[in-house]
Parts: sequence; structure tokens; C-alpha cells
Amino acid sequence: MGAQQVAERFAELYGAEPEGVWAAPGRVNLIGEHTDYNDGFVMPFALPHQALAAVSRRADGLLRLHSADVEGGIVERRLDDLAPQSDESWTAYPAGVVWALREAGHAITGADVHLSSTVPTGAGLSSSAALEVVIALALDDLYGLGLRRWKLARLCQRAENVYVGAPTGIMDQTASACCEQGHALFLDTRDLSQQQIPFDLAAEGLRLLVVDTRVEHAHSGGEYGKRRAGCEKGAALLGVDALRDVPHAGLDAALARLGDDEEVVRLVRHVVTEDHRVERVVGLLRSGETRAIGPVLTEGHASLRDDFRISCPELDLVVDTALAAGALGARMTGGGFGGSAIVLAEATDVDNLSKAVEEAFAAAGYTAPRVFEAVPSAGARRLR
Ligand code: GLA
Repeated sequence: MGAQQVAERFAELYGAEPEGVWAAPGRVNLIGEHTDYNDGFVMPFALPHQALAAVSRRADGLLRLHSADVEGGIVERRLDDLAPQSDESWTAYPAGVVWALREAGHAITGADVHLSSTVPTGAGLSSSAALEVVIALALDDLYGLGLRRWKLARLCQRAENVYVGAPTGIMDQTASACCEQGHALFLDTRDLSQQQIPFDLAAEGLRLLVVDTRVEHAHSGGEYGKRRAGCEKGAALLGVDALRDVPHAGLDAALARLGDDEEVVRLVRHVVTEDHRVERVVGLLRSGETRAIGPVLTEGHASLRDDFRISCPELDLVVDTALAAGALGARMTGGGFGGSAIVLAEATDVDNLSKAVEEAFAAAGYTAPRVFEAVPSAGARRLR
């Protein structure tokens, strides 16, 4: 669905043209998983899949929300009634952003919103961050708030953490707000400093496939929070602010200090080696050795599977099958416990690889996966 259609549907629903239409993409993370809430490094890029929002202001303290992707009519909320964890439906994402903006002192007086998204939900591709960021950007523009992109991302994260109640990090919202076409975003989640790293796979005869396993995941469930708490315990035991502060060269010594707390040892080892993998991938991309990032991605998967323990049989099957069929590298991406994997491959191998993964899923009796090519796309922006 394009900007024109979203605007037309808005006019049907609300009886007037919208003041504007905005877009915000989903993302895949190339490397740097479960490092963001440890103040570490991540490297996502934006997908061509995006959430679109047609929005107009209101002056009467009402928020009216409609989605093309969900059954049902317009949902109406009074701004003064918005309260954390009062809503378990999709409306919590846009409403949470309005709540977070108002809580930060911005005088939002209401809005009419029509949303339509092509980001697959529950697939680990940040469909919720796309919804949050598109609303935040629309309100920032319409109300003239002049917020920087990183600040918008922070407010969206607050909506997700406090209003929705999912204890996630800052990666997804920053990716949606800040990514640029043809680039991966090298983000330091401690100070949100960013570098756009050129990532043009097609020019090198390469492709990156996303394989959505169709195993749905949720971060408000307990496992994500448990990993996060385990990492915080590790940092406390090591006397650092965050695991980001444990240098890779000092990892063995740090692990020795953790003694026989096997679970914390595994979590710390993942985070410290993963931050190092991000730096290695950045170095390889900068020196033009794109193919050489493949094994680093695959190492990352092993670490998430064996140390962080957030993979699942379907994700492992994608990785194992893709590697056996000649992929340069493969790993799960996103929060884990389902969702999607990424596969780096020679362009000439892509058809065989996709077929091999689809056949392996059929043989295992799994739901057919959704396979598509990911091209680094534009971040959030106004369309009209
Ligand atoms: C989810 C969270 C992110 C990040 C990833 C794991 O996508 O929303 O903040 O923690 O999981 O890297």
C-alpha cells in the first residue's frame, strides 16, 4: 500500500484529507544481538517493509486509531486516560508513543491516525518499532517538536518499556528512525553515536536472505527479561556499569572471576564476544572483505544457540541447511525464540539455498518459512 492509498483510506475513515503521511521501516540486525541493553554495539539495517501512517492533529484531547491490518473499526482513547500497561492490543504501540511524548512535556492535544504496515508481525523484524517510530515522527512534524532522531527513538523505547511493558533495548527504534538506504547502521548503544557503513551486497554479487521461520516470538514474555537480568547480574558481579565494559582481551580473566555460576558465565561470554564480532564485521566491511563476514555471522549464531540459549530448532535448521547448501554465513536475527534468520550467500546460490531450506522445513513437518531478499533501505521519513 502506498502513501496515496493510505491517505485516501484516512479520508474515508475521518472525513478529511490527512495533514501528512509518514513511513518507518522494520529492520534486520546484521550482527550484535542482545548487546543493546548491555551498552554494546549493534549493526542493523532497514528493510523495504514499512509502516505507513496518515495523521492529522486534533485539539480535543482524543486519539483515534485505525489499522488496515487488524479487524475492527476506529479505536478512540482520551489522552488523559492513557496509562502504562492498560492496553494489550496493537493500539498500545501508537498510544504508548503519545503517552511518552506527553510525559516528556510535549503538548500533544490529539490525533487521528490510520496505519498500514507491510512489516511481518511476530517475525523478529521490528514491526512494533516501525509502528512506534512512524507515529513519533508524524507527531514530531505536525506539532513542530523538533526532536532529534535519536531522541525520538528513546521516546519510542520508553513507550515499549513502560507503556507496553516489554523490557527491550534501543536498537530497533534507532534502526527504524536512523537507518539510511544502502547502509548498515553501526550504533554504539551507550551514547547512541552512529556510523553509516556502506553495505551494497548486490554490487559484490552477494545477497542477504531473510528466512522467517513463522515461529512467533514475544519479548514481553519472561525469557527476554531473564537474559537481561542475568546480564545485569554479571555486570554487578564484575563491578562494571554494563557488560560493554568487559574488554574482549580480558574475557578469560572476567569469566574466571565469575567462578562456577555457569549461567552467568555463558551470558557474559556471549555479550563480550558478540560486541567483538560487531567490531570485526565493521572492520571487514570497511576493508572491502564482505565475504569474510560470513563466518563471523555463523559464529554469532553458535553463541546465541549455545551460550545465550535463545535459538529454536527451526532457526537452527535454517542455519545448518543454508551452510550445508553453500551459504557464506547464517544466523538468527532479533530477540530469538523464533522469528527470523539471515543468510549471506553468493547471488548465484540463492535459488538453491531457498529451495534447500524450504525442503528441509517440509521434511521436518514445519510450517513453510517465508523467504525474501533484504536490501538495506531508507529509514523513517515523511512521504507527503
Ligand atoms: C529485540 C529487542 C532489541 C534487542 C534484540 C536482541 O529485537 O527489541 O532491543 O535487544 O531483541 O538483539
